[in-house]
Amino acid sequence: MSARGLPEVAAPTAEHHREPLGIGEAAPRISWKTLAPPDWTQQAYQIEITRTDTAYSTDWIDSADSVLVPWPERPLTSRERAAVRVRVRGTKGRSSDWSAPIHVETGLLEPADWTARAVSPDWTEPRDAERRPPLLRKEFSLGADIARARLYVTAHGLYEVEINGQRVSDHALAPGWTSYQHRLRYRTHDVTHLLRSGANAIGTWLADGWYRGRLGFHGGYANLYGDRLALLAQLEIVHRDGTVATLGTDSSWHAAHGPIVTSGLLDGETYDARDERPGWSSPGYDDGDWSPVRIVARRPATLVAPTGPPVRCTRELTPLRVTPLDGDRLLIDFGQNLVGRVRITVAGPAGHTVTLRHAEVLQNGELYVRPLRGALSTDRYILRGAPDTETPHAETWEPRFTIHGFRYAEITGWRGEDPYRDITARVYHTDMARTGWFDCSNEQINRLHENVVWSMRGNFVDLPTDCPQRDERLGWTGDIQVFAPTAAFLYDCHGMLASWLRDVAAEQHEDGTVPWYVPEIPGGEQWTPARPGAGWGDVVALTPWALYQASGDAGLLAAQYDSARRWVDLITRLAGPSGLWNTGYQLGDWLDPTAPPEDPGAGSTDRHLIATAYYAWSARHVASIASVLGREQDRRYYDALARQTRHAFLNTYLLANGRMTSDTQTAYAVALQFDLLSEPAARMSAGQRLAELVESGGHTIQTGFIGTPLLAPALSNTGNTDTAYSLLFQQDCPSWLYALKHDATTVWERWDSMLPDGRVNPGEMTSFNHYALGAIAQWLHTTVAGLTMAAPGYRDILFRPHPGGGLTWAAAEHESPYGRIAIKWKQRETHLEVRTTVPTGATARIEWPDGSATPVRTGASISRWFGAVTAPPR
Ligand code: BGC
Repeated sequence: MSARGLPEVAAPTAEHHREPLGIGEAAPRISWKTLAPPDWTQQAYQIEITRTDTAYSTDWIDSADSVLVPWPERPLTSRERAAVRVRVRGTKGRSSDWSAPIHVETGLLEPADWTARAVSPDWTEPRDAERRPPLLRKEFSLGADIARARLYVTAHGLYEVEINGQRVSDHALAPGWTSYQHRLRYRTHDVTHLLRSGANAIGTWLADGWYRGRLGFHGGYANLYGDRLALLAQLEIVHRDGTVATLGTDSSWHAAHGPIVTSGLLDGETYDARDERPGWSSPGYDDGDWSPVRIVARRPATLVAPTGPPVRCTRELTPLRVTPLDGDRLLIDFGQNLVGRVRITVAGPAGHTVTLRHAEVLQNGELYVRPLRGALSTDRYILRGAPDTETPHAETWEPRFTIHGFRYAEITGWRGEDPYRDITARVYHTDMARTGWFDCSNEQINRLHENVVWSMRGNFVDLPTDCPQRDERLGWTGDIQVFAPTAAFLYDCHGMLASWLRDVAAEQHEDGTVPWYVPEIPGGEQWTPARPGAGWGDVVALTPWALYQASGDAGLLAAQYDSARRWVDLITRLAGPSGLWNTGYQLGDWLDPTAPPEDPGAGSTDRHLIATAYYAWSARHVASIASVLGREQDRRYYDALARQTRHAFLNTYLLANGRMTSDTQTAYAVALQFDLLSEPAARMSAGQRLAELVESGGHTIQTGFIGTPLLAPALSNTGNTDTAYSLLFQQDCPSWLYALKHDATTVWERWDSMLPDGRVNPGEMTSFNHYALGAIAQWLHTTVAGLTMAAPGYRDILFRPHPGGGLTWAAAEHESPYGRIAIKWKQRETHLEVRTTVPTGATARIEWPDGSATPVRTGASISRWFGAVTAPPR
């Protein structure tokens, strides 16, 4: 709010971009947040768009909307830049000043904008054996008066670009992993400051990455997308007089091997600093002995602009403990299981090798790497040395094109001064804005929440993965399906997941089958060809909805509608007249703790009960999506389908005595949370039975991936919040807090990834960093703290705190599309005190433990009390 008491509008945003340079939307939707006096309501807005040639402002548009409002003018063309400002007027007529501007700039919107051709070194190399990654370079000269310059770039393989000896950006692992045959992401960089008149040079590192590196389990596969690395780069320089020079990759570029000897995402990187080529990306370097390049095919129509942020180093951690081991080794404990890589500063003789191995856990004081299966996760640095002087020179190195999941590193041959200073873990993930926080009076619960956040970071490296460390790291559909609501609270992951959902739709099979993981790669008989699996394939209906709930973006629903519908139609065909999805291969309640380690799908809940429940739930979601999109006929059809499926479910899986045919925690949780039990009495009895099962199980968890996210909500929604708290506070295995006894700093794949006796679970799949079971965090946000969304995008907010479990206070915050929402409750002796913050543009109310409600004003932080209050507490 301004000093004059007027509303103030923060710089607007375009679509879901954090950095709107090189966007792919010609008519980006605009959003803004307003700081205004309490209860101020927007009555109208104005958008001003300034382009190179024109300035345009809308009239006042009568609307209270401020999230993703339509672009009001003619669409932008390729490479077009515009400054956008917004101002708003309240119902009482006073208007704000113009906001600060946001500068949006489009990328190359038309395939014909691409004049560059993808180029690859023109040499022959072995198909599978270790292949040395290349460098590519080109010198060029420019006239004076450069006004601006943009680099549009992507690659087959991973790339890092330098201009005149300097990196053009801090993006890592670009272009990320998309379904390359359908969609390859390019990025736009502002490189104006790197160019000069006269001689210039551009150089690029390339490496195998996802394109042709070894990926996948059981030994994996190389060359999944092709066996030649290639670069596609288009540098466009605009001079002050308006003339444009374009320099694209073409046959005049040159290639040579660089100092990276081998590089693989799973295996790690080996770098021989003696083979560096000083000055290679600067002008004047002699590339007379470099090889020519050849043009390779890449259809420009498959090039897409990003919808989410790039991967970056977001944090650095210094060692918590350094322990010398025999054999010239150091064991480093970074104190946090993380995803990224280690940077070292060493000094020693030329040719000396420093080897870095990584692991999530130790056994007997040594790295324990069996859980990594076929991922070697080993980096090697071969020192440059300083041949001409006696004193060694410090050399700093970090691998470029690999990534590991680890808390511990073992360094062999360390030659450095102070390991606490010279060894650093660098955390990498998609650089999403953090939007969600939780805190309470119990430190263990806070640590659990922190572990969930770390598991999200580690598995949001360009695509949502199951795990970041072993030879898997795939976009497993079921994992993100159960975790998406939590993810969307913690971080603004809309852009990243919207991109991934495009890939899912692109790879969905003709008959509607959704691959188990996307991008799909061969996975042996069990996974390829993919078969329709409940909970996994349902990602296409449930995850767009979860993102829509968090962002209010109905455009995403429109984009994914067909994919969602095709999935439900497939299940309808599979179910046939019975309305039951009771055939075919199912993973069931994956990793139910009663399933044997070698058969994680053999849980105690009938797999087809779960499959039919998901069928009904997805049908209902397709109906809801159709309704938002105004497809009335579809809505009616899918609504009816959902109802029929529910009847079939109840007739088959609910017994006359109110028990389910699988008398398990998961069966009741699914039936309750998927709204299959509509009668209040049936709900109450199912909630009661669920609570009994939890109590008779000694408050341990008996659910896997499917049941776990639903368990605590099913209890609290049926009046069994105390039982849910008892589950939450359980320390014995299986429970959420059990892992903390073993010093967990991320969420594990299995309840007992580490067995009570301290040995690592012998199962094939034993990851210490899987987010699925961390979906409990959303219950902490919505139920313990009580911050829930009552309308998409948090336009309406329901604060519904559930004090209990001995907590004396709990708090949650969420940076919503309208602005910051916060709640903090304190249990006082005589009453409950609740302090809330509601952003302008939203509406909110508090629902008290007795069911009564109090509306809350927007634009202010206020306190309310529930219970016997004699005097307002201070
Ligand atoms: C992955 C998962 C996945 C599961 C499905 C595992 O190997 O790590 O988390 O959902 O397979 O079967």
